[in-house]
Amino acid sequence: MYHFSHIVDSLRTSEIRDLMGLATRADIISFAGGMPNDDLFPIKEIDEIYNNLPAEIKKTAFQYGPTPGYPPLLESLKLYLRKKGLLVDDNKLLITTGSLQAINILAKVFVDPNDVVITENPAFIGAISAFKSYMANILSVPMDKDGIIIEKLKSLLDDKTINPKFVYITPFFHNPAGVMYSMERRKQLIELLKDRNIPLIEDDAYGELYFEEEDKNNMIPVKAMAPKEMTVCYTGSFSKILGPGMRLGWMLVPPGIYEKCELCKQSMDACSPNFTQILANEFLSQGKLQDYVASLRVIYKERKNIMIQALKKYMPVHPEIHWDEPRGGFYIWISIPENIDATEILKKSIEKGAVFVVGRTFDPHAKSNHHIRLSFSNTPEQNIAKGVQIIAEALKSFI
Ligand SMILES: Cc1ncc(COP(=O)(O)O)c(C=O)c1O
Repeated sequence: MYHFSHIVDSLRTSEIRDLMGLATRADIISFAGGMPNDDLFPIKEIDEIYNNLPAEIKKTAFQYGPTPGYPPLLESLKLYLRKKGLLVDDNKLLITTGSLQAINILAKVFVDPNDVVITENPAFIGAISAFKSYMANILSVPMDKDGIIIEKLKSLLDDKTINPKFVYITPFFHNPAGVMYSMERRKQLIELLKDRNIPLIEDDAYGELYFEEEDKNNMIPVKAMAPKEMTVCYTGSFSKILGPGMRLGWMLVPPGIYEKCELCKQSMDACSPNFTQILANEFLSQGKLQDYVASLRVIYKERKNIMIQALKKYMPVHPEIHWDEPRGGFYIWISIPENIDATEILKKSIEKGAVFVVGRTFDPHAKSNHHIRLSFSNTPEQNIAKGVQIIAEALKSFI
């Protein structure tokens, strides 16, 4: 018998994960993965970049690097973040091994067992797991189509018995809700938090993937809008705009928080891979990222449109079945009647050849299961309508 830690003992593999194990048949249409499609990666460009690297840089690529990140990447990333209006010079930038590591490090820095943290509901499962792995007590706040519901967040913050360590949000193209925070909602959030000394963790993994040109100038992170004295820890990632296999993300945080985060990272993995940092730096500093992301926006928007059309065509008409059309990102979040368990629909859909993720996965309290998350990013156009039809028919059979 092993004597595992309390934390590890409390981690459980979910029924959903087991079901997903069944969904690996080659012919299954998957709307499950929150990832780009293999065929979209910029393989040719990265081949060229690697082949043209001087031998000295190739040697550096194989070597350990400094904990904060590969210095040229830190510089090119600062330029990139400045363009988003972020005050790069008043903060410190740390390259991380995916942005999930940034979120994990921030949780480690702030959370003692039983400390309260506040998230949206639904919320990104990776963040929920990271917070739980430090035994956080998660309280959650529902969202509407413009973002977190401010009155509900306020009532938690006003409760003097709660003392949250931080509030975690994903304001742009939320995973799973697909929501983009309105400008008004971002302003209200700042108004609410600015004098409270509660850090905000702003997860901006999808902000580049807006579909509408009119949104381009509206994609201003909360961190870029907030007054200097408000603590915002901003995280971002190359995963959705270059490739998750790069395992590269970052955090931009005030210097006092940065020092603790750097210490944590030293003991986690010492540094993120120099190899991919060098490739990402070339991709970014040669201006290739801009063109590549522009091409992704077109493809993802097209996939979203096809999925929305298919939903309109195949989904049963019912007052409790609805979705909002996302303005960017990877996801459509569909409400289904409260008396239907999304896991039952999933089982039936898998039998017929389509897979998605059930709502409970994203509920920090693992209860609510009357939503389904469809990801359109990983599914070639020609398969989308068929997959939606399978899921819609599975749903119909329960109504
Ligand atoms: C909202 C959100 N944040 C962060 C991440 C983490 O991505 P990565 O660790 O690959 O940067 C993801 C990945 O799916 C995500 O959906």
